[in-house]
Order: sequence, then C-alpha cells, then structure tokens
Amino acid sequence: MLQRNLLSLLAVGLLLSVAIAVDTAEASGPPSQTATSGAPKSDMAKSAAEKLYVEHKCYECHRPVEHHIGPSFQAISLRYAPEDDRAALIKRLAAKIIQGGYGNWGIVPMNSNPNVTPEEAAELTKWILSQP
Ligand code: HEC
Repeated sequence: MLQRNLLSLLAVGLLLSVAIAVDTAEASGPPSQTATSGAPKSDMAKSAAEKLYVEHKCYECHRPVEHHIGPSFQAISLRYAPEDDRAALIKRLAAKIIQGGYGNWGIVPMNSNPNVTPEEAAELTKWILSQP
C-alpha cells in the first residue's frame, strides 16, 4: 500500500518536472507559435512585455540568454546595470528600439521598429533590463 502511494507520488513528480521543462524551453527558445495561434494557457502565463516581444518579432534577432543576431537581453541588462539614471536609460533604449541604430554592440544594425509605440518600447525596455 505504502509502496503504491510512493509510486504514484513519483509519477506525479515526474509529470510536474516534464511540465516545468516544457515551460522553460518555451520561455528561452524562439516562440514556436505566434501570439494568434499560441496555446492560450502559456499565453496567460506570459507577461505583457513578453507578448510584445512575440508580437513585434524581436525574437528574430534577440533571445533572452543567447546572442543571436543582436545581443541577448541578459547581456543588455548586464551592460547597463551600472547606469544610475534609469529613467534616462529607458528613454534612450526605447527610442533606439523604435528608430533602430548600430554601433553599441558591433557592426550589425538594428532595423527600425516603427510599429512599436513609445509606451510599448518603454515596457519592453524595462522587461529587458530586468532580465537576470
Ligand atoms: C533585424 C534584427 C533585430 C530586430 C528584429 C530587433 N533587434 Fe534589437 N538589436 C539588433 C541589433 C543588431 C542590435 C545591436 C545594435 C548596436 O550594435 O547598437 C540591437 C540592439 C538592441 C538593444 C540595445 C541597444 C543598445 O544601444 O544597447 C535593445 C534594447 C533592443 N535591441 C531591443 C529590441 C526590441 C525590444 C526589439 C523588438 C521590438 C528588437 N530589438 C528587434 C537587432 C534587432
């Protein structure tokens, strides 16, 4: 009896860790589904900024942790961590997201993202700067 209980506990634990693994894979990899076709469940777990990241296709060049075409969000967050004037920093980076630009990370330029509103750009910037 005790053994059976233990076995079912183990099974539940296994299921949980698989679920968690799937979740983290989704968070760090390229979003396989777009916002429109995505599973509603994982969409609900996403922050507003994460949804903007998908909607505006930032993932085509940026990943949370790995360098892709552009710098990883983690690298951006680390680089600007010493800057004390957060409001000015957010303003500057948000403007760059909309206008595009180059030279801070190498020779590859970031295209302009004219569909991103200033509010969305600020939201995205705060999210990027909060990456661990
Ligand atoms: C076509 C590829 C591409 C897309 C799409 C793209 N980026 Fe970039 N991004 C880059 C590159 C390349 C750089 C490095 C530019 C540089 O060296 O100054 C960059 C830099 C950045 C930076 C750091 C700017 C700096 O001066 O340090 C931020 C923040 C950023 N991107 C956010 C975003 C967000 C948010 C989106 C989605 C709205 C996005 N990017 C979409 C390629 C892209």
